[in-house]
Amino acid sequence: YCSTTQQKCIAIFALVCCFAVLVALIFSSVDIWGDDEDGITEENCSKDCHIVLVENIPDDLSFSMDGRPHLPVSVGFHTLLDQAKHSIEVVSSAWDLNSWDLETIPNPAKQGQLLFQRLLRLKSRGVKLKIASSLTNSTELKALAAHNAEVHFVNMTLFTRGGLHSSFWIVDRKHIYIGSADMDWRSLSKRKELGVVVYNCSCLALDLHRVFSFYWQLHERDYIPSIWSKRVTALYGKNNALQLQLNSTPATAYVSTSPELFCSKDRTRDVDAIYQVIQSAKTFIFISVTDYLPLVKRSFRGTSVTRYWSSIDEVIREAVVLRGVKVRLLISFWKKTHPLTFNFVTSLKSLCVQLYNCSLEVRFFSHKEQNDDIQLGLNHNKYMVTDNAVYIGNHDWVGSDFAINAGVGLVVKMNCSAEDRGVTILEHVKATFERDWRSRYAQSRHGVKDHCKLNAQKPADKK
Ligand SMILES: *[C@@H]1O[C@H](CO)[C@@H](O)[C@H](O)[C@H]1NC(C)=O
Ligand SMILES: *[C@@H]1O[C@H](CO)[C@@H](O)[C@H](O)[C@H]1NC(C)=O
Ligand SMILES: *[C@@H]1O[C@H](CO)[C@@H](O)[C@H](O)[C@H]1NC(C)=O
Ligand SMILES: *[C@@H]1O[C@H](CO)[C@@H](O)[C@H](O)[C@H]1NC(C)=O
Ligand SMILES: *[C@@H]1O[C@H](CO)[C@@H](O)[C@H](O)[C@H]1NC(C)=O
Ligand SMILES: *[C@@H]1O[C@H](CO)[C@@H](O)[C@H](O)[C@H]1NC(C)=O
Repeated sequence: YCSTTQQKCIAIFALVCCFAVLVALIFSSVDIWGDDEDGITEENCSKDCHIVLVENIPDDLSFSMDGRPHLPVSVGFHTLLDQAKHSIEVVSSAWDLNSWDLETIPNPAKQGQLLFQRLLRLKSRGVKLKIASSLTNSTELKALAAHNAEVHFVNMTLFTRGGLHSSFWIVDRKHIYIGSADMDWRSLSKRKELGVVVYNCSCLALDLHRVFSFYWQLHERDYIPSIWSKRVTALYGKNNALQLQLNSTPATAYVSTSPELFCSKDRTRDVDAIYQVIQSAKTFIFISVTDYLPLVKRSFRGTSVTRYWSSIDEVIREAVVLRGVKVRLLISFWKKTHPLTFNFVTSLKSLCVQLYNCSLEVRFFSHKEQNDDIQLGLNHNKYMVTDNAVYIGNHDWVGSDFAINAGVGLVVKMNCSAEDRGVTILEHVKATFERDWRSRYAQSRHGVKDHCKLNAQKPADKK
């Protein structure tokens, strides 16, 4: 009698123990999913931020500068490195800072090598370097890992058959960089790039860090969990943007991501961010992207199917025709320009035929260097500026990019009152666009002529 009670007690005790261990396991596994946020919370993060536009302009491009100097991307990265005290988190589609086969003098990869050396030396300063990447066999990532960088591999092939094309930095959960430049020596010398660095902005950094955490947790995972830790839930989005001060001007901002599969709870999709910015434009929309192609290529039951991808095309049409918003589209004309680009662009332009107050202009940016490397001189920008907002992203406006590649975007909206003119980031980006638009590298007829040539030469050449 007595011993059965004892047995019962032992059984109950064992059950309670099991339960406790289970609970502990569940909680710890949830906790691993989003790592420590350094004690900064959305309540006490900093919203008084300083934003600067950074650009890389290849030496042999000459623009009329209108007296407004640009801050080089490389200076932006070095400033961020100077500020770093604890951690740097980097996502980049490429890791090619050292060009191994370049022997020209002066060495165009010098800036890249310098940056790489500084990244290698972070360990000696006690700064942690964390990198998320979809590259499987990168020499540079191996070298960095050997110098104490933590590298997490995200198998994008498995998730979407795409790539981790995001390009951003987070420094000490305080300062961030987002833009077109990635960890490629070309981004610091021969390719035209544009991005922003935001200082003292832990609120925005905290949210971008959650995107980074998402990538970080996909390491050695072969599925996307359906339940995520709260620590990857978006803090801000298109319906609840962060209210902040940018260079002492009131503004709102949020981070968007793609592809849809990578949008954790409450995260705004890149495409929706672009909609919102286009839809809230009142007078003008200036767009600068390498490629513009409203097509999406998907593999369906083993065969690849190309479909029309109307998402962005249709909001542009609506803005131009129904709201009378002036649209300018600056696209790069280069070796990889899809021949159908010209047809879609001609279709957009034809909307304004015989329509009063309708303006949609397209120009092609091209600059050819005498070299086999087709990316040299390329306008690699990926942004849009309107009368009240800026969108700076990682993707070209190509349907397939948004569908399969991971990227982030930053939306900044502003109240542009008259006294702010000339000082806001918005005015700065607009001036930059206008500089490029008016330059001799941007031509409206260029593409049309070459289009015929391109089509005549290789009609079946589809990307
Ligand atoms: C922010 O708040 C959290 C919790 O409320 C606290 O632990 C942390 O120390 C605070 N951080 C700063 C920088 O005030
Ligand atoms: C990885 O890169 C090294 C050096 O570039 C090369 O020798 C090796 O074949 C590559 N391995 C794979 C699996 O691609
Ligand atoms: C990524 O996933 C694909 C598809 O499952 C697999 O074939 C490949 O080996 C994986 N790559 C790595 C480096 O694990
Ligand atoms: C960031 O904030 C610190 C302390 O408030 C200040 O000293 C520093 O100048 C700020 N940096 C920028 C780039 O505004
Ligand atoms: C045409 O545009 C001008 C200036 O943007 C505006 O004042 C006018 O109302 C517009 N007219 C029509 C018919 O939309
Ligand atoms: C922007 O301006 C509008 C009208 O001028 C005003 O109602 C709104 O509160 C302002 N928003 C911010 C964030 O200052």
